[in-house]
Amino acid sequence: MITFNEKSGIFKLDTPHSSYLMGIVDGKYLSHLYYGKTLGGDDLAYLMQDPSMAPGPSVLPGEKVSFMDSCPVEYGTSGTGDFREPAISVWNEMGQDACELLYQGCRILEGKPGLPGLPASFGEQAQTLEIDLKDPVTGLLATLSYSVFSDTDVIARSVRAVNEGNNSLRLTRCLSACLDMEDEDFNMIALHGAWAREHLPEKRTVGYGGTVTESIRGIPGHDANPFYLLSAGNADKEHGNVYGFVLVYSGNFLGKVEKTQFGTIRAVLGIHPEKFSWLLTPGESFQAPEALLGFSADGIGALSRNYHDFIREHLIRSKYQNMPRPVLVNNWEATYFDFNEEKLLSIALAAKKAGIDMLVCDDGWFGSHRNSPSGCLGDWTENREKFPTGFPDFVKKLHAMGLKAGLWFEPESISPESELYREHPDWVLHVEDREPVQCRNQWILDLSNEGTVQYLIRSLESMIRRTGIDYIKWDMNRPLVDIGSSALPKERQGEISHRHVLAVYRIQEQILADFPDLLLENCAGGGSRFDAGMLFYSPQIWCSDDMDPVERLLIQEGTELVYPVSAMGSHVGSSPYGITSRKTDFDSRALCAMAGTFGYELDITRLPGEETAKIPGQISLYKRIQPLIQKGDYYRLASFRENGWLDCVEIAAKDRSEAIILAVQVLTQPNGRSFRMHPGGLDPDIHYRVKELRPGEMDSDTDDSDSGNVVRGDILMQAGVLLEPVLQDFYARLVVIRRV
Ligand code: DGJ
Repeated sequence: MITFNEKSGIFKLDTPHSSYLMGIVDGKYLSHLYYGKTLGGDDLAYLMQDPSMAPGPSVLPGEKVSFMDSCPVEYGTSGTGDFREPAISVWNEMGQDACELLYQGCRILEGKPGLPGLPASFGEQAQTLEIDLKDPVTGLLATLSYSVFSDTDVIARSVRAVNEGNNSLRLTRCLSACLDMEDEDFNMIALHGAWAREHLPEKRTVGYGGTVTESIRGIPGHDANPFYLLSAGNADKEHGNVYGFVLVYSGNFLGKVEKTQFGTIRAVLGIHPEKFSWLLTPGESFQAPEALLGFSADGIGALSRNYHDFIREHLIRSKYQNMPRPVLVNNWEATYFDFNEEKLLSIALAAKKAGIDMLVCDDGWFGSHRNSPSGCLGDWTENREKFPTGFPDFVKKLHAMGLKAGLWFEPESISPESELYREHPDWVLHVEDREPVQCRNQWILDLSNEGTVQYLIRSLESMIRRTGIDYIKWDMNRPLVDIGSSALPKERQGEISHRHVLAVYRIQEQILADFPDLLLENCAGGGSRFDAGMLFYSPQIWCSDDMDPVERLLIQEGTELVYPVSAMGSHVGSSPYGITSRKTDFDSRALCAMAGTFGYELDITRLPGEETAKIPGQISLYKRIQPLIQKGDYYRLASFRENGWLDCVEIAAKDRSEAIILAVQVLTQPNGRSFRMHPGGLDPDIHYRVKELRPGEMDSDTDDSDSGNVVRGDILMQAGVLLEPVLQDFYARLVVIRRV
């Protein structure tokens, strides 16, 4: 619910458990007043008595800088006295950087509008506040937009800049969110990593000068993620104030928290100003992506659950969000480039027997010589040596077997040896007089060129139409460099990185509009583009190229901080595993992969007989817990990253009728004893049957079974679920807690 009190000049946004307040100071400056636990009462004008807001510069013009540099503002500007991290910077035609945004007016709308060309949250039970601020000198109008929803403590925020002046302007930054707050001994928790070890949480004290998480790779990258948390010094999993900042965007980003000279905090999030500038001729506008602000007074766990629900209910549009996802087998780590139709059909046959739903044909199916990462990206027709009767015929065979069919593409890239490059050398991103830099033997297509975009839509759609595939894995294996385009004039070269992201969104939007039944899974060399923007288009994203289950526990823990488990692409890999040489047991690997979208990525035709025999049981177990994985509430009960031996997550049904605990003993505890895990989300007053399923017993748990203990919910939550020690490294087990 949103209110504006004209007399006091105070805006109040209420979510079920939080309030967000702004006020107009000195008749023209929009100040931030409060964000936190719900505020009741009508004495809100008291919040305006902060000495840093009054007297304003109209009363004391000689003190303008001290006002501008200390007032908690809603959207910080640059060049006019606020020396904290700016949210917006605007150059006039002389290249001079100055802007002062003054309050003009506001509107409260029912509903949640979309954002043109960008992914954005949606919802019917929502209200949106738009506040217009304007720089009287340049004529730049910035409209700040805030949406609240009846069922969530997440606030969706964005900014639209319009040049209402008579001269051209250049935006050199236009961030999506800016939040000035009192410091609560905040720590920033952000995700770092690298290829094969993405999304690892790191907690850093917010210090003077700034604490940063960022990417300038053109995609978020393996080493960063467009999200961070600010947790108060006394906060933990279940207690204390935690604020979340999630950017619905898939390119360069800046997340920064600055502790100011007065010990207050300014937190910002948006498109990275590096590699960004946007020309606004008179009348033109720029839309910044959406930022999702979250608040929990009950620790990090509750904030994660808020974001999981929000992303599932208000961001993922795919109809597959609420449908059982197919269990798939992907041939990448089974065959790499060394496959043909015959080999894939043998995998398909084994898959069908085991109860797998879909076969995905990964990299190497196209062009004339894609037998290594060096050729043919861009030539999106099948290789007839590998598929002698054509790919449509192969798909028909899969469909006739009762399997769905999936196909890999890497649309944004082009190989120097491709036909496409021979025909369109100017379609490659490049800087004048420089040979573009190769990475994995490939270059990046210039998606600010409309010809390239139309080519991609045409060739992908023709392949989907010809073959009748059910699923696409959209990969992206390299960062953007050589940011130059022959399709844009020199004054618009700073727009290329953002235009690239917009074009990716546009192509995916078009394909999904034309093929609404298609299931899309995004991927970027593993999890380097796992972000809220991509989730608007694909309900699941490949989480990492590392399927070693021990590594996956770490990767999944970081990912789950903000993204729902239902969105995490996770498969069973081989043992010993290629990247780590680690040997792990088959059922334990399968249990780890079940905390996500389940599948296999190993040669199932060459498994030992006893492992082949286990697959049907694994799949039927996954299908039974799939509704929880897709819709349940996530609780982290133990972190292997923190304790060095045990990882444990719980997923509880929203109606509290059941829960599962997935516990992985990574290292045996010498002289260990039994231990207890404390689940959340149960009904304290009802009885549950608690049953541990050991690997190998996965298919023996039936609803009418009366084995296990019957225990009341309060006992389970307070005293804990008892687990016996096991003398085995990397031992995974599942505890099913079901209402009696
Ligand atoms: C990177 C992806 O993450 C892998 O799963 C696989 O599709 C390869 N690319 C193929 O080149």
